[in-house]
Amino acid sequence: MHCELTVTLTYTAHKLTDYSSGTLITAESEAKTAFDEDWKSIETGTPIEELRVRWLGRENGIVNKQLPDLWLKSASKKERPEVGKAINRLKAYVQDHFASGEDLEPGAREIVRAFQAVDISLPGIRRPIGAEHPVLRASRDMCAVFQRMGYSIAEGPVVETDYYNFEALNFPPNHPARDTQDTLFIAGQNSKPQRERLLLRTHTSPVQIRTMEKLPPPIRIVIPGVVHRNDPPDASHSPMFHQIEGLAVDTNITFGDLKGTLDHAMKEFFGSNVKTSFRPSFFPFTEPSAELFISCIICGGSGKRDSDPCRPCKQTGWIEILGCGMVDPNVFEFVKDNGYDPKKVSGFAFGMGADRIAMLKYGVDDLQLFFHGDVRFLEQWA
Ligand code: DAH
Repeated sequence: MHCELTVTLTYTAHKLTDYSSGTLITAESEAKTAFDEDWKSIETGTPIEELRVRWLGRENGIVNKQLPDLWLKSASKKERPEVGKAINRLKAYVQDHFASGEDLEPGAREIVRAFQAVDISLPGIRRPIGAEHPVLRASRDMCAVFQRMGYSIAEGPVVETDYYNFEALNFPPNHPARDTQDTLFIAGQNSKPQRERLLLRTHTSPVQIRTMEKLPPPIRIVIPGVVHRNDPPDASHSPMFHQIEGLAVDTNITFGDLKGTLDHAMKEFFGSNVKTSFRPSFFPFTEPSAELFISCIICGGSGKRDSDPCRPCKQTGWIEILGCGMVDPNVFEFVKDNGYDPKKVSGFAFGMGADRIAMLKYGVDDLQLFFHGDVRFLEQWA
């Protein structure tokens, strides 16, 4: 015959009348005795889960919630350590019982063992693995193209001085070219000399100078990093974006090396069908300077998508992808002492937007999507 036993669990935790050591010892031993009785009642049918919730439950368990609330909260700073220790002893005492069960008769011991066992028939907990952000993936892929050509990675600070961001890149003080960069300045710098004033770097080009100060020629580096400009956000602008800078300096670097290197990089990154076109431009730190266009990877250079106009290339069939040029001798003058004598070395440099190449490569038409953190968008790269 099946017989159900009902066991009443009687102990309830109380506030302490005072915090003398005698009161504390009595209260601790009362709680212990109460637990011993409850624990024994497994033998007479109390469900072990009920005991776990009663003593160890997070919401209202005696040792995890009730005692800390009733004993600890109103204790003075001086009394707290002793009260805390008493509660911790009780907690360890209770936990040890759930971990062993040896003091119980064999049937009840089995119940404790079964309670501890892992149920391997349950599904595991799936922990989603994050995915690399598409902008960082594009940046890393582009850097990898250059690494395969023997380039190393260099990095530099995001908070930069006027000297590295402008002066040593041949932007003289008050030169109008500074205005093209919509710089965000750090406040409260006006008492410092201009070259020491801090700003958020507007491009990764300052790392050219920082690296040449540290490493003598020859060098070949690519520099991925975050930059900031005072641009309101829209589908193609963001006050924070990413660039990849490149610099090669040696004794006989020519514009032909620049063209060959960048043509190869664009074909590696976007596909071997891509054509490149260099057009004259101006940057203070390169002479001559150029902009590199690639044939539109959306319309294949036709300017049309079926019978519609192709928007990314504005129907021209070409897309501007980066700025580049031969390092201006004036720039070498700033690092001359480290072996960059403009009469002996020459080099080329380039800088591109990592967000932009990610948009083109992955067919994303709104830059803001990269920064909104919408998982439905981002998980496409998982
Ligand atoms: N720093 C430039 C910008 O942010 C891009 C650039 C142009 C970098 C020409 C270069 C370069 O290294 O040679 O607008």
